[in-house]
Amino acid sequence: MKRTSLLMVISLSALLALVGCQHQGQETTETETQSNETIEETSNETQDTNTQETETTETTETTDASVDMAALIETGQQLAAGCVACHTTDGSESVGPTWLGLYGSTKTLSDDSTVVADDAYLKESILDPAAKLVKDYSALMPPYSFEDEELDALIAYIQSLAE
Ligand code: HEC
Repeated sequence: MKRTSLLMVISLSALLALVGCQHQGQETTETETQSNETIEETSNETQDTNTQETETTETTETTDASVDMAALIETGQQLAAGCVACHTTDGSESVGPTWLGLYGSTKTLSDDSTVVADDAYLKESILDPAAKLVKDYSALMPPYSFEDEELDALIAYIQSLAE
């Protein structure tokens, strides 16, 4: 009888130890899963940082574009050196209409029709000034011939004077 109960105690404790081990084993797995999650989070953060870097690159591109625009406006201002004999850039009266606030505004022509001063109108006004005469002004402007790039620069300059 004593032997049997001893055996039972041994096997019981062995069983308990087994259960204990299994439990511990489970815990280890949980810990592993957790640390895996931590790794995932960390790699997500790394992705975030990458995204931020991409955004920074885009900002640099925007700055490049503004630099290009500034250069274009400056070229336009240089090309307009002969124009400012008849056009002002500060809103004051001259032989021709002022360029201040011209871009995008609605102009009344000599036949009382109206036109929006967009790129196409400005181009035509430079290449063929007599095609559309601004109301109350005389056809004193000579026609000019410019390359497309020069026209773009002149228009960028006039656009920079928009109000
Ligand atoms: C001799 C004077 C004179 C010169 C130089 C001159 N313009 Fe003009 N410009 C005028 C007059 C006057 C008008 C208004 C009559 C008309 O529409 O043609 C005018 C009109 C314009 C218009 C339309 C303005 C508006 O308010 O709708 C534009 C754009 C323009 N000129 C651009 C230029 C550019 C660019 C140059 C130089 C490359 C130039 N002009 C040189 C006299 C001049």
